Amino acid sequence: MKILRTSLAAAGVLALSLVAAQAGKPAYEIVDGGIAVSLTGKPGDPAAGKVTLADRKLGNCLACHVVSDLSDLPFHGEVAPPLDGVADRYDEAQLRLLLVDSKKVFEGTIMPAFYKSEGFNRPLDKFEGKSILTADQVEDVLAYLLTLKEQ
Ligand code: HEC
Repeated sequence: MKILRTSLAAAGVLALSLVAAQAGKPAYEIVDGGIAVSLTGKPGDPAAGKVTLADRKLGNCLACHVVSDLSDLPFHGEVAPPLDGVADRYDEAQLRLLLVDSKKVFEGTIMPAFYKSEGFNRPLDKFEGKSILTADQVEDVLAYLLTLKEQ
């Protein structure tokens, strides 16, 4: 009986993940202060991530953060720590969660949550298209952040 219930639960989770994926918003799971699994199931593109990070209508990260690698671009804000060497300070899972839902990492931060979803408890279509970045863009920005190591 217990085994049956467990496998029914597993099937339920699988079905929900499929629904979530179909709604255009892949599910994510927060484990140990991070999201270990790529939102898209594949690694992002660091070159595309660099563009998304600097785009004022997308990441707009330079409004608050300095990135020395992008020092040819104007408008670097200083309200937040520089992103230089950030790949030495955090691992991939931590950075993914920070991009998805910054308040899970820094309580009360002014940094926007770029891909927050309320999980399975609410109608998924309500959140469709509501995130600032798409799953692909989050993975691209993450791939770029992982290149930012101190020399
Ligand atoms: C509105 C300002 C703002 C924007 C926009 C913003 N951030 Fe942040 N970010 C912060 C602040 C402030 C912190 C420091 C945490 C805190 O104290 O709130 C932070 C922290 C971080 C950290 C951890 C840095 C460290 O060394 O501890 C990373 C990584 C980061 N942000 C990446 C990004 C990326 C990538 C983007 C764009 C997709 C972005 N942030 C957009 C304000 C911002």
